[in-house]
Amino acid sequence: MKKIVVIGLGYLGATTAVALNKMGNRVIGIDPNPAKISSLSAGTVPFFEPGLDEALTEALDSKQISFHSSYPQEAKDADIFLLCVGTPQAPGTKAADLRYLEAAIDELAPFYGENSIVVGKSTVPVGTAVQLKSRLSALVQLPARLAWNPEFLREGNALFDSLSPDRLVIGTDDAFSERVLDELYAQLTEAGTPMVKTDIATAELVKVAANSFLATKISFINAMAEISEQVGADAVKLAEAIGHDARIGNKFLRTGLGFGGGCLPKDIRAFQARAEELGLGESVRFLDSVEQINIRRRNRVIEVAQETFSELENLQVTVLGAAFKPETDDIRDSPAIAVAELFASAGSKVRVHDPKAVANVRAAHPQLAAFDDLQRATAGADLIVIGTDWFEYGLIDPAQLASWVRNRVVVDGRNILPVAAWQKAGWKVVALGRSIVNEVASEFVLQ
Ligand code: UDX
Repeated sequence: MKKIVVIGLGYLGATTAVALNKMGNRVIGIDPNPAKISSLSAGTVPFFEPGLDEALTEALDSKQISFHSSYPQEAKDADIFLLCVGTPQAPGTKAADLRYLEAAIDELAPFYGENSIVVGKSTVPVGTAVQLKSRLSALVQLPARLAWNPEFLREGNALFDSLSPDRLVIGTDDAFSERVLDELYAQLTEAGTPMVKTDIATAELVKVAANSFLATKISFINAMAEISEQVGADAVKLAEAIGHDARIGNKFLRTGLGFGGGCLPKDIRAFQARAEELGLGESVRFLDSVEQINIRRRNRVIEVAQETFSELENLQVTVLGAAFKPETDDIRDSPAIAVAELFASAGSKVRVHDPKAVANVRAAHPQLAAFDDLQRATAGADLIVIGTDWFEYGLIDPAQLASWVRNRVVVDGRNILPVAAWQKAGWKVVALGRSIVNEVASEFVLQ
């Protein structure tokens, strides 16, 4: 059992804290937000993540986890200080804002002991760990040990990804830290999780490289969607066909509105900013195209609406979905919200529906009318846009929906609707990237 201080209790930190407790460790969670602390201490996760509430309750029952808005004395000499704070995009630049990491080092320093190590999990520009280590060195009279252990958890699957990751990556420059991390993850590695051991710079880079690759894969298939729309082809079938090639693989080839969330968009921007600083902007220039394709997919929905309705002003538009992907209430950089905003600025009357994210929409976008009731969200609508691939949207009865809308037009921005059934119910269906909609059922599932 290790004593681990988890610093920052957002999606990453809260999930990691619970997972590390489940793995048998004593966990002390720190976050300056008192509302977050009282919520977590009472057994309620302050965001929606499947299974996490139950796991938190179990963790609290173990009495081996506690949450604090400032360091308790017990944190002294912890085995591991785990950095899980956010690295948001700094205002006015593409670069990541590292101030929360710097503050975390300053605050942990008085509690750092002879046998402590600091481990970074946050996504950072390569070179950050070196700076943090020298900051720590200046504050402690002991050898400053800092390792990097990037986290690849996906929202909606966060707990599973933490307890059964595809791989572990640890970057160290001292044997003591390596040993502590070997021990920490022994049960996962013994169960077969591969562990990649490397230097710190590589460990930092792995995370941004992985996210850049995923973003590129999505934009690649969305570029094929642009071509398909023009030439009368079907990008969904195209993805299926190329995905059968094991070298390409069928994952992350779902075409539609593109990627959003708190990671992929910000990480590719921060990577470009860091590469520019290193004089290597050209190496990742393609990420600019990746982002431009992603933005064009959102605009494409507006173009479709313009082609269908001559006037967008006062058009009743309902966007189904606000979360950046299903099984989360996270609306950061959500493509669905971006589309809703585009319609709102064109003068349309916009309503947004989401099963989980309504409270977040109301807080962050009060100008958008948000509902979790489908009928209230869609009654009298001229245009329905599928913005998030929530499973339940694929199950909507098109005939019932047709009975209360004003115009039967739907843009399937996530390619989840059974198009033939909707067409049969009198709907004009525009499926992004699919000029020809071939409804032959397929065994092949894009993930
Ligand atoms: C991502 C990485 O997957 C994860 O490893 C990392 O730790 C954090 O960033 P997450 O932000 O939870 O995870 O979302 P992800 O599942 O990667 O999806 C990102 C976006 O891409 C979503 O908006 C999703 O709708 C979109 N997407 C995904 C597609 O448009 N098409 C696809 O084929 C897959």
